[in-house]
Amino acid sequence: MAAHHQEKEHENPLAEGLERLPVRPTSLVIFGGTGDLARRKLLPAIYNLAHDGALPERFNLIGVSRGSMSHDEYRKVAADAIRAFSRTHPDASVLDALLEDLRYVELAFDDTARYGRLRDTLAELDEAAGEPMSRAFYLSTAPDFFPVIVEALGEAGLARTEVPDGDVRCIIEKPFGTSLAEARDLNRRVLSVFREEQIFRIDHYLGKETVQNLLAFRFANGMFEPVWNRNFVENVQITAAEDIGIGSRAGYYDHAGALRDLVQNHMLQLLTLLCMEPPVTFHADDVRDEKVKVLEAIRPPTADEVAVMSVPGRYTAGVIGGEHVVGYLEEEGVPKNSRAETYVALRLVVDNWRWAGVPFYLRTGKRLARKVTEIAVTLRPVPHLAFEQDGTADVRPNQLVVTLQPNEGVSLSLGAKVPGPRMRIRPVNMEFLYNTAFLSQSPEAYERLILDAMRGEATLFTRNDEAEAQWRICDPILSGWVETGRVPDAYPAGTAGPAGADSLLLPGHSWRTI
Ligand code: BG6
Repeated sequence: MAAHHQEKEHENPLAEGLERLPVRPTSLVIFGGTGDLARRKLLPAIYNLAHDGALPERFNLIGVSRGSMSHDEYRKVAADAIRAFSRTHPDASVLDALLEDLRYVELAFDDTARYGRLRDTLAELDEAAGEPMSRAFYLSTAPDFFPVIVEALGEAGLARTEVPDGDVRCIIEKPFGTSLAEARDLNRRVLSVFREEQIFRIDHYLGKETVQNLLAFRFANGMFEPVWNRNFVENVQITAAEDIGIGSRAGYYDHAGALRDLVQNHMLQLLTLLCMEPPVTFHADDVRDEKVKVLEAIRPPTADEVAVMSVPGRYTAGVIGGEHVVGYLEEEGVPKNSRAETYVALRLVVDNWRWAGVPFYLRTGKRLARKVTEIAVTLRPVPHLAFEQDGTADVRPNQLVVTLQPNEGVSLSLGAKVPGPRMRIRPVNMEFLYNTAFLSQSPEAYERLILDAMRGEATLFTRNDEAEAQWRICDPILSGWVETGRVPDAYPAGTAGPAGADSLLLPGHSWRTI
C-alpha cells in the first residue's frame, strides 16, 4: 500500500524553524578549505544554505590552508567546487553574493605563531560588520591536526570573543581518534580550550533526513512502542553496504579499516537511535543521555567472545555492475602486507531490560554487490497457526525494514491471503516511500549539520562521553583481532561479503540479500 498523502513542496526546508533558533551573524572558518571534503561537501552545503535563505544576513566564509593562494584564486576554487558538487544548480546571483567577501588565509596548521593572521582577518571582518560576529571553526583536516589547531586557536585568543563565548564554536570532523585512548586524549585537549557546549563532533549520518526519521518513526507513532522490545523483537539487522572501493583514500583507509571507518560512528549511531528509551525532550542532552545509556549497555567483548561475534573480511578482485575491479591488496597505495578489513560483520547484545537476549547483527563493507543502508527488525513468529498446514508454508514473521539509502522509506511485511478458494498465505509489503510522500528534495546531511552547529543546536552531534563509549565497544574487537592474528576472510568484489559471516548467526537466522 503506497502512502498517498503528498506534502506541498517547500522552497527552503532548512529555513523553516530558524525563528526558534536564529543564526547570529557568523564568520565560518574552514581549516582544510581547499581539501576534498570542503570541495565536495562543505562548500556546496554552504551554497545551498545561502540559496535556501538559511544563512544570516552577515556571513563570512574563510578558507584556511597551507598553500599560497590569493582571495580571488580561492574564490575560483570555491565556485568550481560548488558548480561541480551542489545538489541544486547554482544560481549566479546567490553564488556571487556568497563568495563576494570570501577570504583565504595561508597558514600551516602547526605554525602556531602565525595564527595572528587569522585573528587579524576575523577582526577586520568584525569591524566591517560593525559588531563582533559569532565564529565557527570547522576542522576539516587530517585528524592529527585537530588537537594542534584547537590548542593554537586557544593560544591565539580565538576561542573567546566579545560575544558570549558560546558563540564561538568548533566543529570537528571524523575520525574522532582511532582508539579509546586517543579519543580520550583528544577530548581532554579540546576541552582544555573549548567548553563542551562549544564543540560539535560530526557524524554525518545524523544529518541525514532518513536517520532523523527513525526518531520520528519511533516517537511520533503509538503503534510501534508496545512491540519495540525483547518480548516481540526476535532479531535486528543493520546493513551499510557500499559498492565503491577505497578510491584514492588508501593512506587513510589502510590505517582505519571498516570497523573504525563505519561501525565506531555511523552504525553505532543507528543502533543507539533504534534502541534508546524515549527522551524527555529533544534537547541535545536529553537525547544524548539516552544514547549513551544504550552504548553503555553493550558489553565490550572479551578476547574469546571477539572470535565468535565478529568476522572481518577483505575484497578480492571481482565484477561490479559489469565492470572488473581489482582486489583491496591491488589498490593503489595499499601495502601488500596490509591487514586492514574492508568488511566487518558483528553480533552485539544490548544488555538492558528492553533488549536483553535480542541479537543485533551489524555488517558493513566496501565493494559489495550494491549500495544499501537499511535496518531490518524481525518480530517473533505467531505462537500458533490455525490454518491448514499446506497453506502456511510461506508464512514469515513480520519484518519492518527502514531503508536509509537509496529508495528511502519504510516497509512492513505482512502475511496476506492469496486470492482463491484455499487459505494460502504469503508475505506482502506495506510501503512508505519518501520520494512519493514528500515532493521537496531533502537537504544534504552537511547542510543541516553546518546550520545546527552555527546556531548552537547540538542534538545531532556526538558528545564527548558518547564518542568514548563508542570506542569502548570497538577497541576490544580491534585488539582481539590483533591478539589472535585474525586475518580478514576473503570475499570477491560484487558479492554479499565473506561466507564466514554466516557463522555469527544464531540458528534460524539468515542475512538479508544485498
Ligand atoms: C564515511 C566513510 O564516513 O562514510 C566512507 O569514511 C563511507 O568510507 C561514507 O564511504 C559513507 O557515507 P554515505 O553517506 O555515502 O553512506
